[in-house]
Amino acid sequence: MSMFRELFETIFAHREIATVVEVGVESGQVSSLYADLGATVHCVEPAPGDELRAVLTEDPRLNLAEGLSPVALGDLPVADLYVLDGDHNYAVVREELAWLMKNAPEAVIVLHDVLWPCGRRDFYYQPSPVPAEDTHPATKDGPTVWHDDITPAGFVGDGAYTVAQHAGGPRNGVLTAVEDALDGSGGGWRLAIVPAVFGFGVLVRKGAPGAAEIFEALRPLTSSPLLAAMENNRIALYTRVLQLQYEAKARTDDADRLAETVTAQQREIAGLRSELDRARAENATGRQELQRLREASAPPAVQDPELGEAVSHLGRALSARIRKNPGRSRPAR
Ligand SMILES: C[S@@+](CC[C@H](N)C(=O)[O-])C[C@H]1O[C@@H](n2cnc3c(N)ncnc32)[C@H](O)[C@@H]1O
Repeated sequence: MSMFRELFETIFAHREIATVVEVGVESGQVSSLYADLGATVHCVEPAPGDELRAVLTEDPRLNLAEGLSPVALGDLPVADLYVLDGDHNYAVVREELAWLMKNAPEAVIVLHDVLWPCGRRDFYYQPSPVPAEDTHPATKDGPTVWHDDITPAGFVGDGAYTVAQHAGGPRNGVLTAVEDALDGSGGGWRLAIVPAVFGFGVLVRKGAPGAAEIFEALRPLTSSPLLAAMENNRIALYTRVLQLQYEAKARTDDADRLAETVTAQQREIAGLRSELDRARAENATGRQELQRLREASAPPAVQDPELGEAVSHLGRALSARIRKNPGRSRPAR
């Protein structure tokens, strides 16, 4: 909402605003904007985190109202400006507007997210307090403008919210809730939309202080086809970026899985190698043992001293005879 500062400046310039109720605060980064423009701010948030508590504790102009809108609204002073940016679904917004039109009919009501993707499709913050009979079948996937079906590569809540599976039809989406509230008001209220950053709606009762001046001052933006075309273009690019981010993450996950498989296989190969080394070492030891056993079981060389002596005696006698009768060394035929 911080990029809407100039729009809030316009509203504050044409209407005395002493008290603001901000519904849906998240981190509290925008709350001080209203205080800087001169208001006391009541910040309605069902589950304030540490960051929000720290922001609100530091700034005495900001007051935490821990709870769910619209129930929490009744415990707060009636404000001059309500900024509705909480649970973006038909049931909650319709109830918020019913409460405000009845209890704060002079207030300026600003609604964020009156255009795509919440305008005609319910979003349900989790855990959702909306009774099942007031919700549409919902999913964790999200919408995109690139095709009709919702997709995990779309505008997803990552656990923070789910979205209605189908857009359009009765009782579906923030803008549908506003239109039904306008119809129910008997024509006493007026809506104008600045078609930027998901849609900035301004709802004021005709004749309320500053109403005509605010609508007149915002008219260059609320009636700008150029701004609407740029918002459509921005959303087309934005959802394309979401899709690319999803695909990049899927590829990174694939690469991580592949790296894990390679590491596991390398570990397995290392294990098999050391098993092979062990088997080779065992084999070598076995061979050595076999060799030792073979050598140990070979028959000893024959050692008969008498036979040896007889052989060398025979050798000497033969040599002597050859020396005496060299020509008769061969027996006569
Ligand atoms: C889109 S964020 C608000 C962002 C904030 N306005 C900003 O501009 O930074 C919506 C917030 O509404 C809160 N929320 C959801 N349901 C709510 C409810 N019924 N009443 C009040 N806040 C609600 C969520 O917890 C979430 O922090």
